[in-house]
Amino acid sequence: MNMFIFASMLGFEMKAVYREVYGPPEVLELKEIEKPVPMDNEILMKVHAASVNRADSHGMRGTPFMARIILGGLRKPKTKILGYDFAGQVESVGKDVTEFKQGDEVFGTNKVAGGFAEYLCVLEDLMLIKPPNVSFEDAASVPGAGVTALQCLQKYGEMQSGEDVLINGASGGVGTLAVQIAKDKGATVTGVCSTSNLDMVRSLGADEVIDYTKENFTQSEQRYDLIVDVVAKSSFSDCKPILNSNGRYVTTEFSPGLAIKAKTARGDKKFLPMLASPEKDDLIYLKDLLESGKLKPVIDQRYSLDKVPDAIRYLEEGHVKGKLIINM
Ligand SMILES: NC(=O)c1ccc[n+]([C@@H]2O[C@H](COP(=O)([O-])OP(=O)(O)OC[C@H]3O[C@@H](n4cnc5c(N)ncnc54)[C@H](OP(=O)(O)O)[C@@H]3O)[C@@H](O)[C@H]2O)c1
Repeated sequence: MNMFIFASMLGFEMKAVYREVYGPPEVLELKEIEKPVPMDNEILMKVHAASVNRADSHGMRGTPFMARIILGGLRKPKTKILGYDFAGQVESVGKDVTEFKQGDEVFGTNKVAGGFAEYLCVLEDLMLIKPPNVSFEDAASVPGAGVTALQCLQKYGEMQSGEDVLINGASGGVGTLAVQIAKDKGATVTGVCSTSNLDMVRSLGADEVIDYTKENFTQSEQRYDLIVDVVAKSSFSDCKPILNSNGRYVTTEFSPGLAIKAKTARGDKKFLPMLASPEKDDLIYLKDLLESGKLKPVIDQRYSLDKVPDAIRYLEEGHVKGKLIINM
């Protein structure tokens, strides 16, 4: 018997979607690799579901270049296994872990990815107990996109209850959650999407919908307190005329150049390129919404682990409705 088969039989091996280099989905390979061992402050998770984010595509290709700086690995990726958002069960914990124990059902996000695998080692800082009434798929759908949506609206957009908010890209991973969060926080919400997604976006609670294939929302007669462009298809200059005085324009397009432009912009209307940074309090807010049934993730497609390259290809086409799930 060779060592590899022996290790598999003993449970020291796991399946993972692995890569050594940056590149297109073809660089991803389903492999049997060593199962990770948790350090004292880590938790070993058996992953049940992971979701696919744009960060996986950026991290896979190493573009834009900033992705290499954020994730580490200027020439070669340090992160060999992608997949930031996960839900699953605690297999074992390091001796310094206090909040979780073996058997807990949990979900969260891992800053260094690793979720496209059967097992994952994570720190306890961005992980929570999964409510029993929330499925692994729904829990895995929410962390990255939900934190981005929440921070667009709250941290950057400083949204207040009763405000008029427009969300461009309301049918995507971030947008479907942003519509529901904005409604929960008492905004009047207009969602911009294409014809086939109008009913879905309405069903998420949007008060108004605009079909971008028929109407340019920047020419609207309506005025908004906050415009969140999650798909970065508009510009501050085009949106300025439809912002109320003291209105804010938040975009998920971020670069150091845009950040400088935002800092030096004059006038009462604010330009706010955002960079999401997950915080535990944000995850707790999203967990409460999920548990109460106020946040219902939209899942477009489900894939098995070996089909991660297909999932990323589909995501990169830019027409996903809600989220894509990888089931282990
Ligand atoms: N700055 C940050 O920290 C941060 C964090 C997370 C994500 N992001 C960025 O945020 C963006 C959105 O992420 P996501 O996960 O929501 O992406 P996504 O799920 O891939 O977005 C797909 C959705 O965008 C819609 N869409 C495409 N073209 C559109 C247009 N011209 N107008 C309105 N909607 C359009 C599509 O609807 P149709 O099929 O109808 O076209 C589809 O439903 C990505 O570019 C990502 O890189 C940034």
